[in-house]
Amino acid sequence: MAETMKGLKRTHRCTEVSRSNLGETVTVMGWVQKSRNKGGIIFVDLRDRSGILQLIFEEADCKAAAFEKAERLRSEFVIAVVGTVELRAGAVNENLKTGDIEIRARELRILSESQTPPFPIEANSRTKDEIRLKHRYLDLRRPDLQKNLMLRSQVAASVRAFLVQEGFLEIETPMLMKSTPEGARDYLVPSRVHPGCFYALPQSPQLYKQLLMCSGYDRYFQLARCFRDEDLRADRQPEFTQIDMELAFVDIEDILEVNERLLAKIFKEAIGLDIKLPIPRMTWQEAMDRFGSDKPDNRFGLELVDVSDVVRDCGFGVFTSALENRGSVRGINAKGQGAMPRKKIDALVEFAKGFGAKGLAYLSVQEDGTYKSSFAKFMTPEQLEALVSAMDGQPRDLLLFAADKTRVVWDVLGNLRLELARSLGLVDKNTFSFLWVTEFPLLEWSEEQNRFTAMHHPFTMPMEEDLDKLDMDPGAVRAKAYDIVLNGTELGGGSVRIFQNDIQEKMFEVLGFTREQAHEQFGFLLEAFKYGVPPHAGLAYGFDRLIMLMTGADSIREVIAFPKVKDASDLMTEAPGRVDEKQLEELGIEIVRELKDEA
Ligand code: AMO
Ligand code: AMP
Repeated sequence: MAETMKGLKRTHRCTEVSRSNLGETVTVMGWVQKSRNKGGIIFVDLRDRSGILQLIFEEADCKAAAFEKAERLRSEFVIAVVGTVELRAGAVNENLKTGDIEIRARELRILSESQTPPFPIEANSRTKDEIRLKHRYLDLRRPDLQKNLMLRSQVAASVRAFLVQEGFLEIETPMLMKSTPEGARDYLVPSRVHPGCFYALPQSPQLYKQLLMCSGYDRYFQLARCFRDEDLRADRQPEFTQIDMELAFVDIEDILEVNERLLAKIFKEAIGLDIKLPIPRMTWQEAMDRFGSDKPDNRFGLELVDVSDVVRDCGFGVFTSALENRGSVRGINAKGQGAMPRKKIDALVEFAKGFGAKGLAYLSVQEDGTYKSSFAKFMTPEQLEALVSAMDGQPRDLLLFAADKTRVVWDVLGNLRLELARSLGLVDKNTFSFLWVTEFPLLEWSEEQNRFTAMHHPFTMPMEEDLDKLDMDPGAVRAKAYDIVLNGTELGGGSVRIFQNDIQEKMFEVLGFTREQAHEQFGFLLEAFKYGVPPHAGLAYGFDRLIMLMTGADSIREVIAFPKVKDASDLMTEAPGRVDEKQLEELGIEIVRELKDEA
């Protein structure tokens, strides 16, 4: 029979006990990390979310059978102990916050026993992810996950404190709603009352927060749960949390300013980091040209160089045909890598092909200034020299080139750049490099749909300078949109919104919506815009990504209590699952295709 806490009250968490309590009686409760019986003396490491505290049981000190009970203790038993704080008799443990003290136990209660856990409860676990996630309640006992979730809670509190002080109101918006177009697939919820109709779970609170601006709540925020049915990656989950905000009567500068102060405050409070303000800005065009990415990791060089003009008239068909097809030829100078073995270069070519490259041309400058190259035979010595000089190629450098449609070249070299930096160890893990990327294109051409789609979302305001291009050359219109990037991860993004009905209708037209379709989907927004709308703008951070970067975790799974795996299932609860026939019947749903039962 398990004992109870009756008559006992916890006085301290494990690491709240210190030398300042010497001689005092304390009551501590937690899990047995480990217990060592040295014959006559039993040492127990007691664990709670604050850390570890050493308990010492000696028969002479112990009340009623406490020593016999201590002999039974095993890992993960939950116990309550009353004892006296003493200086450690043995060696001080420098690794523990409580390493210089111990509790001489008088009373012990075993509140709950434990089977042997399927993996050890300790930091830096080597246990396979599947096993950890199946027993997430045990995994969450591990100190590294506890640290992450405690930091997450602290950052949420800092965010709230800052925004409230800045005059923001925290307002909740519905989970059951009409689909919002953030570009991913919706999660749908069938309606019982309206058979055949579905709610969508929010991909973001975008439309509601704009409506709140129309209603005069001029500064809104929410720690909002968002749902997107998209392919999972290390920095994506099907449900995730945004720090979402919207402000009225503001323009870009106001948004960036308040957010820079927010970032400075939360990074200082969470990890003691001083962010140098203002955060640098870069236009989308510059980010793509220099880094081949709209979320550049600018902690290292390896920048892209456009050599299209240099190779325009050369004899290398791969280059010239890309240029004839209105593409470009760009290169990266991998400094000092001229001696890279052929096998490694071939691996880079394969890597590039993974991003749609047809190949990767290379040239290494030898110690004696001669070249080794996959394409030298197609060029004259002068052409080669001009190319090497455009790339600032020095002896021992390796030059890598991609020729294709510019989008492909950017993607290939942008990713190759990251791969090279990773494999050459060029990334300083202790640097936090923040960057605003601005002036995104308003639209992007979708080959698949044969139409323009909104790069951010359909409510994003075009730059005033480009408004007149909306008719003739929509692809060239830049948007009042911005992303905040940290170390190559898109931490957040937002935009100034369209608040004029005519521009909004125009935008829908460019996106290929008929008037009827636009009104069917967003009629309420267009209606709201008829009754006095303030200029407004907003931004949302990926809260999970933020905590991931703060903690240095390599996946957002490490900062979410109950995450999902790659196929969007929860290994612990085994969601999603089948439901009762009766439930389906009530909803008017018939299953026409289902997973085959595993053989
Ligand atoms: P956006 O779609 O850029 O903007 O999302 C904002 C931020 O949310 C994070 N994020 C994700 N995090 C984890 N898992 C995902 N699947 C996921 N998808 C996005 C990213 C991203 O930068 N309504 C607009 C914001 C606005 O305009 O105000 C929006 O949702 O860090
Ligand atoms: P090939 O003539 O196809 O044998 O290609 C000669 C060299 O150019 C090889 O090193 C290829 O990897 C490279 N190459 C092929 N296509 C491209 C491309 N689109 N961009 C850059 N290099 C390429």
